[in-house]
Amino acid sequence: MEHKLAFFGNSPVFQKPRSTSNLIKPNIYSFLNYIKPYFQKESLAEDNLLIQSLENRLALIHGTKHCVAVCNGLWGLVLAINELKLKGKTEILMPSLTYRRMADIAAWLKMIPHYCDIEIKTLGISTKSVEASINNNTALILAPHPIVNLCDIDGLLNISEKYKLPILFDSVEASYASFKGKPIGCYGDAEVFSVHASKFLNGFEGGYITTNNSDLARRLKAARNFGIDDNQDLITLGINGKMIAAHAAMTMACLDLLDNQIKKNKARFYKYKELLENVKGIDLVEYDSIERRSFKNILVKLNEQWPYSRELTISILQKENMVVRPYYFPPLHKKEATYPTIIGELKNTELLMNQYMLLPCGEFVDFRDIEIIVKHLVYLETNSSQIKFQIEKIINK
Ligand SMILES: Cc1ncc(COP(=O)(O)O)c(C=O)c1O
Repeated sequence: MEHKLAFFGNSPVFQKPRSTSNLIKPNIYSFLNYIKPYFQKESLAEDNLLIQSLENRLALIHGTKHCVAVCNGLWGLVLAINELKLKGKTEILMPSLTYRRMADIAAWLKMIPHYCDIEIKTLGISTKSVEASINNNTALILAPHPIVNLCDIDGLLNISEKYKLPILFDSVEASYASFKGKPIGCYGDAEVFSVHASKFLNGFEGGYITTNNSDLARRLKAARNFGIDDNQDLITLGINGKMIAAHAAMTMACLDLLDNQIKKNKARFYKYKELLENVKGIDLVEYDSIERRSFKNILVKLNEQWPYSRELTISILQKENMVVRPYYFPPLHKKEATYPTIIGELKNTELLMNQYMLLPCGEFVDFRDIEIIVKHLVYLETNSSQIKFQIEKIINK
């Protein structure tokens, strides 16, 4: 029997791609209401009010003293590391299985990414591996929260305290989360977030840094403004890293939708959970049900019963216009770099790097889509012998 997969040249299940990004879009008038007072001003170069009110609102949400809005998450990380790193030291401890441009951040600072392993349970940076990697040249611990779970916040804070090392959390994937009932944002020396259009909060582009350290906040505000502080003194190395008003207005409009968005994300997640019970080879990575979570991403693990490799699975599904993505692949230690790197022992990273993938989610994926996607997975699992035989025939042609 011929299987009618798009992989074999048939029409795809979806006419339009179903993506793995959130892509939340507020009502345009809500965005315009926020931008209007700014637009009506005589000089558009002198705005600060909109940015300040966004910063105040975000600081309140995260329960921090300060929030510093910046042009995007990546430069937010660069600026925060530059302010926090131990002077004269050059290594940044970070996981290898993480955001694909994380090591470049070290390179921009002329620092060296030192790759640590991850924990099997959370996929977050391993506290044990961090401790084993600390040496005389360690400048900072960079701990990105993994997708769905959080990293071991308490364990990492203990290590940071024990060795007197600064710790920065990349909380881009944990923007709505809480830990021990307290919102993410107030842990470590600072936390960095992104409001890129694909993220939980869509500001078109942009990012922000939260901290309880007033001196750090003052320096970060200067750093995003060419290094110049409110008194017009040059106090640090800066860039033009300010958030623009349009991005702040969009972020404000999205903040108004937060509760509704969580409700919809949660409903999508539970729909996947219910239906994926029928797929033996796929385990859904579950969100903590006690703490606050965004339920934004649908992360699954392909277990030993799944009959295809992850790469083949992704090729098959993408042909159907399901924009499925591998979980942070390749890991950073497998990529060619034009700058020095240090590779620690990465046993868990090697073990898990080919097992996880992200399924379509977010605003443009509805219940019907989820039913179609999971039905397709059931079909692939049930008919795997014939489908694989058909694929072999094509490959050997
Ligand atoms: C974990 C993580 N950190 C940092 C960034 C960078 O954020 P931005 O795109 O706002 O520069 C991203 C972007 O995808 C990310 O996923």
